[in-house]
Amino acid sequence: MVTMTPQSNSPVASRGLSARPCGPLRGRISPPGDKSISHRALIFGLLTKGKTRISGLLEGDDVLHTAAACRALGASIERQGEGQWLVEGAGIGSLLEPTAVLDFGNAGTGSRLMMGVVGGHAVRATFDGDASLRKRPMRRILDPLVRMGAEVLAQAEGGRCPLTLRGTSEPAPIEYRTPVASAQVKSAVLLAALNSPGRTTIIEAEATRDHTEKLLKHFGADVQVEPFGAHGRKIVLVGRPELIARPIAVPADPSSAAFPLVAALIVPGSDITIEGMMMNPLRTGLLATLIEMGADVTISNRRLSGGEEVADLRVRASDLQGIDVPAARAPAMIDEYPVLAVAAAFAAGETRMQGLHELRVKESDRLAAVAAGLGKTGVEHRVETDDLIVVGRGRPPGGELVETHLDHRIAMSFLVMGLASRRPIAIDDERMIATSFPTFKSALAVLGAEFATL
Ligand code: S3P
Repeated sequence: MVTMTPQSNSPVASRGLSARPCGPLRGRISPPGDKSISHRALIFGLLTKGKTRISGLLEGDDVLHTAAACRALGASIERQGEGQWLVEGAGIGSLLEPTAVLDFGNAGTGSRLMMGVVGGHAVRATFDGDASLRKRPMRRILDPLVRMGAEVLAQAEGGRCPLTLRGTSEPAPIEYRTPVASAQVKSAVLLAALNSPGRTTIIEAEATRDHTEKLLKHFGADVQVEPFGAHGRKIVLVGRPELIARPIAVPADPSSAAFPLVAALIVPGSDITIEGMMMNPLRTGLLATLIEMGADVTISNRRLSGGEEVADLRVRASDLQGIDVPAARAPAMIDEYPVLAVAAAFAAGETRMQGLHELRVKESDRLAAVAAGLGKTGVEHRVETDDLIVVGRGRPPGGELVETHLDHRIAMSFLVMGLASRRPIAIDDERMIATSFPTFKSALAVLGAEFATL
């Protein structure tokens, strides 16, 4: 058995990296497994008796932290080869109480989903992570869990980590309207509700990624999803199902594919193919936006993999036009705004991205971090309340050091910009890239990207 452990983020010195203008990107790239589905695959393995085989698991630090937490709650987990993992679960209602703090590193998704799992079981656990995770709001998760009967025994100021949660063996079936468009909130409630002796209803005004619902169905739970209002959904889950172990094939992450996708659009002469990207419509907002901006993308070989539609994308360097991106599209591209801002810097005219308030509570305050990065790289932009407006004027000057604030997507976005700006762009710290796309540098280098350690 091969074990992998996540890197510890905190006391290790930061590592700078720069990207420099390069020749055309050419070739094929298979982005790593989807991060959202990878966390959920391990968690469903924990909650299912029997053997869950996972292929294509993202072996990034965030997911490895979730694997460690699943072990602490009673799962036996083995890595059997690259991306091939076997989980033997404890089953709903049979989790162990962890003996040590659950450390989630940089991972909002891992920590919040696991709060749902713990909230619905008679165990007590302490949740913690790195400096970025400690800043992130957890009340949005704790509030519904407390309504279901869980208790928050300790928490840092403002409902933050480190926090200690004592779950309940009888989570109350509730009807819950999510106050923010968040798949993490929805999923935490659904995971707690798995051990509830009744029906739990969740209503979201804006549909968010539906991987938890799809996996619930895949594992045999009784879950009904129907449209609600103009853009929302109503989800009803019957608690205490007998989950049946089923294999999970994790498709390629559109949020990671976003980086080679934008890189190929902005580096002159590029022509690449991205293989097997997940095309779940609740995840493809960036692709739709770039195509509206004039991106030359040919979508082919649409097929099913692991219950999701996937496709190959041929992407050629393109002259992009600025557009308005409506707020309603935010849930389908919430993690892609930093790299869209990079594409917008190369587009002709203004791109207005509306309704970005949730960006303020990601791995960093992404709205502020993107704006600061655009400022450093010489890109004209404005922030108007929750809107970001980028004024494209051809190749940005580049040349300055961009601060990443422990945020992998800020790091990768500005490195992508550096491949096509007039001068190289350096970032202060590349370590967080390992949370979601550990092979980022080598995979892009194969296409022709040039990076140098500072
Ligand atoms: C995720 C949901 C999103 C997203 C995150 C992954 C998930 O967060 O930003 O990277 O896997 O459920 P929110 O639910 O907070 O919007």
